[in-house]
Amino acid sequence: PLNTDSVNFITIINYLRARLPIELSQPRVAIICGSGLGGLVDTIDETKCKKVEFKYEDIGFPTSTVQGHAGKLVFGFLGKNQVPTVCMVGRFHFYEGHNLKEVTLPIRIFKLLGVKILIATSAAGALNKDFQVGNVAVLTDHISLPGLVGNNPLFGPNLDKFGPRFPPMTDAYDYDLRVLAFKASSSLNFGEGVLKEAIYCFVGGPSYETKAEARFLRMVGGDVVGMSVVPEVIVARHSGIRVLGLSLVTNMVALGKGKSADPLARESGVIEEPPPSHEEVLKTSRNRALEMQNLVKTIVELTETI
Ligand code: ADE
Repeated sequence: PLNTDSVNFITIINYLRARLPIELSQPRVAIICGSGLGGLVDTIDETKCKKVEFKYEDIGFPTSTVQGHAGKLVFGFLGKNQVPTVCMVGRFHFYEGHNLKEVTLPIRIFKLLGVKILIATSAAGALNKDFQVGNVAVLTDHISLPGLVGNNPLFGPNLDKFGPRFPPMTDAYDYDLRVLAFKASSSLNFGEGVLKEAIYCFVGGPSYETKAEARFLRMVGGDVVGMSVVPEVIVARHSGIRVLGLSLVTNMVALGKGKSADPLARESGVIEEPPPSHEEVLKTSRNRALEMQNLVKTIVELTETI
């Protein structure tokens, strides 16, 4: 298993600092590029300073095993106003077998580098029937199913220098950043209703939810469901990093009860969504990649105003 001790944080920080130009050594914004958002790093402005890339394997990060998720950390200036930014191209998931301390190691590193704002992007399935594939969920809150039964990244001895033993998660998703997301969307003429405020349900995966599980998640108030975001958000909030969560809706989750084999059953043959697939998730991510990139870049530009 990976070394997730504080000592190792310092080793990683020293390695990065020794290789970063001073202008990039204290990024203000960190972006986790979910499926399809990796192209964001190609839009980094290199007029002032060339971007600097680190392969995860070279810096003591876990390595990502999911298809469609490369593994590198990219530092550069983003947007017209040259905001110093660090992008995670490829993230670590609980379902890959990483523990939650490994999954969230990069967030601790970001904190030590001086990051103030985290933009966590991801793909998600929609539980809310008012949502559509291609919508962008602007997260307002989460329900951590693994967290409620003891899988929390802050489990174990508290790292006091990062934050308190019992950090609140009320208002984890920053209001001012959410306002910026809507401003960015309207300045890009995304059209009304493309962005949807949403509650994110974190599930462990890697199997997708059953229909009964999906109805359960909907019933308890979830709007979208996904297998990432929440551990990183918890660790970011623990150390006071402001958070924006954006999830691209890549599929509609089947909520119906399906066909009954019982000839006496009154309901049978309900038409509903097909089962989700990773191909569908990647296809939607690819189709919406440019919009997501523009949205995130415009939000980063606007962070100067808050
Ligand atoms: N990511 C994308 N779609 C998902 C779904 N339906 N369930 C969990 N994670 C997802």
